[in-house]
Amino acid sequence: MKGGGYYSQSTRGAKDVIDNASSMLIDAVAALPAPQNGRPINIADYGAADGGTSKKSIRDTVAALRGRFTNQQILVTYTDLASNDFSTLFKSMQGLDGDADNTYYNEFDGVFVHACGIGFHRQLIPDGSLSLGFSATAMHYISEKPCEIPDHVHMVGASGAALQAYADRAAKDWENILLARANELVSGGRLVFMNFGKDEQGRYLGGTDGIDMFDTFDSLWKELAAEGRITQDEYVNASFSQFYRTKEEFSAPLLDTASPVHAAGLRLISAHTGVVKCPYRAAFEAANGAMSAREFAVSYIPTLRSWSETVFATALDRGRPADERAAIVDDFFQRYEDRVATNPDGHAMDYVHCYLAIEKV
Ligand SMILES: C[S@@+](CC[C@H](N)C(=O)[O-])C[C@H]1O[C@@H](n2cnc3c(N)ncnc32)[C@H](O)[C@@H]1O
Repeated sequence: MKGGGYYSQSTRGAKDVIDNASSMLIDAVAALPAPQNGRPINIADYGAADGGTSKKSIRDTVAALRGRFTNQQILVTYTDLASNDFSTLFKSMQGLDGDADNTYYNEFDGVFVHACGIGFHRQLIPDGSLSLGFSATAMHYISEKPCEIPDHVHMVGASGAALQAYADRAAKDWENILLARANELVSGGRLVFMNFGKDEQGRYLGGTDGIDMFDTFDSLWKELAAEGRITQDEYVNASFSQFYRTKEEFSAPLLDTASPVHAAGLRLISAHTGVVKCPYRAAFEAANGAMSAREFAVSYIPTLRSWSETVFATALDRGRPADERAAIVDDFFQRYEDRVATNPDGHAMDYVHCYLAIEKV
């Protein structure tokens, strides 16, 4: 992810996803057992980025916890990769960025904010101490690429052995994620996850109707290779380290009574898929001709760039000078912008999620 607050500023849709489903967190709070022996209530946001998109929902969750357990101390742990922009997160939590909205750390007494820069495929919190785990739009990241995809940039366009390798990696990772959370949770604790996935109609992020976003990435990256601007190796190296699971794939280890996840006590409370419309497309349509195609393109491309840029930047040969690599990436996103500006029809990054509520029995 790009740092310096760029992620939250450019990712209104991801915030919409969390805000729209934040009642799941409030329901989970209502169902939590009272903490034993005055112990603090631990909640965690896994893959939080700079914390901006979940800030309101976490604030509302803390308020609901404070309403139920008046004197209990509350610890909120934000987790992400070691490379994450935790500095922006801590400024935001304290309102040091000049924005006082939802700064629950200042609003409530007895609230503590910690961070963990280790990936969520591993256990991050001590055994039996987590009451509520939350994650949004993060667990589609697999622990490592099993291979490069030879003929596309993303698993949604992959086939054969490459697709199978990604599916196998994603299944193992999901089991590991759930087993780690099972260890962390107190008995009666809850998980609320809203993860990118594929819905019952085969739709996924940027691939709902109209023009497929990942096909566009692929065709523009191929165009650079065909022109000799990047090498064939650089084309192939740009495989996203992601997998979009179906509701069945998310649910399987929770429903299979023979699985280690089931044995560890995790049970599925609910699972459903949902589409949140691209806010940039919606604003363009609502403008009803008052916004030009170029203006739409300029507003839209940064949201794609906020999470995809590193994939293309790191695919480039390290032997190239840094400014040359930066220029290629700029050119790539400029081409995307130009394509949208030339014909905006069908361009949108609709969000497709699988929403899961899970309990540890
Ligand atoms: C698209 S952002 C979502 C951020 C935020 N949760 C939201 O919904 O807006 C995905 C986040 O997951 C993080 N991430 C990716 N792989 C991760 C891993 N293995 N462990 C923890 N975080 C990870 C990324 O660094 C990034 O901050």
